Amino acid sequence: MANRQPLIGGNWKMNLSPADARGPCSALLDGLDAGLLAKCGVSLFPPFPYLSQISDLTAGSGVSIGGQDVSAHENGAYTGQTSASMLLEVGCTSTLVGHSERRHGLGESDSVLNAKVLVAMKAGLDVMLCVGETLDERESGQSEAIVLQQLQEGLQGVSINDLGRLTIAYEPVWAIGTGRNATPGDAQSMHQSIRADLGKQYDDGSANGVRILYGGSVKPDNAEAIFAQPDVDGGLIGGASLQSEDFLDIVRAAVATVDS
Ligand code: 13P
Repeated sequence: MANRQPLIGGNWKMNLSPADARGPCSALLDGLDAGLLAKCGVSLFPPFPYLSQISDLTAGSGVSIGGQDVSAHENGAYTGQTSASMLLEVGCTSTLVGHSERRHGLGESDSVLNAKVLVAMKAGLDVMLCVGETLDERESGQSEAIVLQQLQEGLQGVSINDLGRLTIAYEPVWAIGTGRNATPGDAQSMHQSIRADLGKQYDDGSANGVRILYGGSVKPDNAEAIFAQPDVDGGLIGGASLQSEDFLDIVRAAVATVDS
């Protein structure tokens, strides 16, 4: 895994009530000792209304929090949107951009996502740019072309100096919430292509420093085999992040790949 520390993100999506969110979060914090956190970054992406509460709960723990989305605008008349500065204000250090449930579910285009990346980085947030192909695109042999296009368009105008703020999450749409994960080999092959493309867009040294996470039906029993791939630097976890024991096991799986 070169010198990249793994990162495990928990994307809660639109799940859990405020009361239900406290329990798994506290149990997670209880289970995450300094030894684990020294070897693996852990970030949570709760729903917007819970960010302050989860920020208070995680303060000083070493677990960071982020938004599930961010506005492409700095401020103004954008009903329902949340700005990068608002996320920072409630304790976020990062944001997801381009999750497939927004890209495909809500029709967000690469150019809108690119604007979000630029605005978030300018404000000082780290960005986790999500990319991934649909089942149709995979079956018609277009996976790599689609993913690299999302990558290139999403990163238009991002300078090499800002790459330290970037994480990529490869989340094949057909693997999200389906119980059908990419094989470790398929994940590695796409991650390698993403890293090679970053090398072409920037340079190899910078590309080697960017973490590329895999997301899509990661569970405790498949996590370690996927994370053990040389270009897989951890995972973005949906369903299993709602169960603190499963999420902890996935963090331990990432740490095991560092220890081995
Ligand atoms: P699942 O882990 O539930 O498949 O979700 C993955 C995901 O979309 C994380 O952002």
